[in-house]
Amino acid sequence: MTPDAIRHLRVELGARRYPIRIGPGLLEHDAWPDLIRGRHVLILTDENVAPHYLERVQARLAGRTCATRILPPGESQKTLARFGEALGDLAAMKASRDATVIALGGGVIGDLSGFVAACWMRGIAFVQLPTTLLAMVDSSVGGKTAVDLPQGKNLVGAFHQPVAVIADTDTLATLPDRELSAGLAEVVKYGALGDAGFFAWLEAHAEALLARDAAALGEAIERSCRHKAAIVARDETEQGERALLNLGHTFGHALETADAYGGLLHGEAVAIGMVLAARLSTRLGMAPATDGERLAALLARLRLPVGLPAGSDPAQLLDLMRLDKKNLSGRLRLILWQGMGRALLVPEVDEAAVLAVLRKDAADSPHPAG
Ligand code: NAD
Ligand code: GLY
Repeated sequence: MTPDAIRHLRVELGARRYPIRIGPGLLEHDAWPDLIRGRHVLILTDENVAPHYLERVQARLAGRTCATRILPPGESQKTLARFGEALGDLAAMKASRDATVIALGGGVIGDLSGFVAACWMRGIAFVQLPTTLLAMVDSSVGGKTAVDLPQGKNLVGAFHQPVAVIADTDTLATLPDRELSAGLAEVVKYGALGDAGFFAWLEAHAEALLARDAAALGEAIERSCRHKAAIVARDETEQGERALLNLGHTFGHALETADAYGGLLHGEAVAIGMVLAARLSTRLGMAPATDGERLAALLARLRLPVGLPAGSDPAQLLDLMRLDKKNLSGRLRLILWQGMGRALLVPEVDEAAVLAVLRKDAADSPHPAG
């Protein structure tokens, strides 16, 4: 590891702050274990991540009382049942208030671990060791923690910030291509919602990113984290601006819930959702169609889906969107845009227009429901 290759950022939350470090070799060489105060440590990880990286993490925790829970992979594990099991692990090890939870994995492990840490004895420390691109650029930063219910995504959770985010970019070497693309959807989101210059940079570097060029990935991760850290610093608990980070997510969460968290990856659902949000914005006369087409073109180049899956039911999706956390007093609040880099929160969106956009996309699907 060359120290020059490490990118250092900070999330500033008034008097509180925590570091984000991005670069190769960090699991083994970064000083992250020094941030752990107490004796008890619970590591949460999954079956795809553990064979590659668990030993490296455990080796750094010698001398501590350590428990490890290895979950099956995937969104279907982000449940109250898994949450309860992890709390049981902390109870079994008699973890005290200075215990630490370590999230070694993608956003599923990160969100679940953070919620466990938020709730054990009303809140203990947790460290994010993200191993997917999506987790490095989004879910590990900002302190949103949650589990899903069958009725909807992330409906149970808490704001609870980690003590550090340590993104070892070497871990991306084992990430499947499809997961890399899913992470790139969230990277594109930052350009689309607030930084047209970054979007243009992504258009210029799409192939390098897909080829896992280290410099391009490092730059994309750093710029994404800078965007997120700045927004979270201004609006930690989503009273306003932070909602913009949900561009595409109301559509996306409905898609994920509709197929019971088993089909589309989160990033894929967000990619489709951003395209639908752009189309809805155009339909409502807010944004030029050409910007939506540019967004869809980049996402497609990044090997992401840009239309509803075959068999999608527009009425069901609209119904699921009604349970989104952004809604107030039963009114649909959506993040839409006025064109590239200009997202905004629209407090009361006409449901008929949403349904029309969903219906048109479902009808245009190359493989209509049989
Ligand atoms: P994930 O955690 O399911 O990881 C994706 C897949 O990659 C899994 O199969 C996992 O086992 C595997 N994997 C992880 N790291 C690997 C590695 N280095 N090598 C090989 N395989 C690896 O999914 P994700 O895309 O990382 O995260 C999605 C989750 O994040 C969703 O639940 C979403 O709601 C949440 N999220 C949260 C926030 C937030 O602010 N808290 C933001 C965005 C997304
Ligand atoms: N991923 C949305 C947020 O962190 O607010």
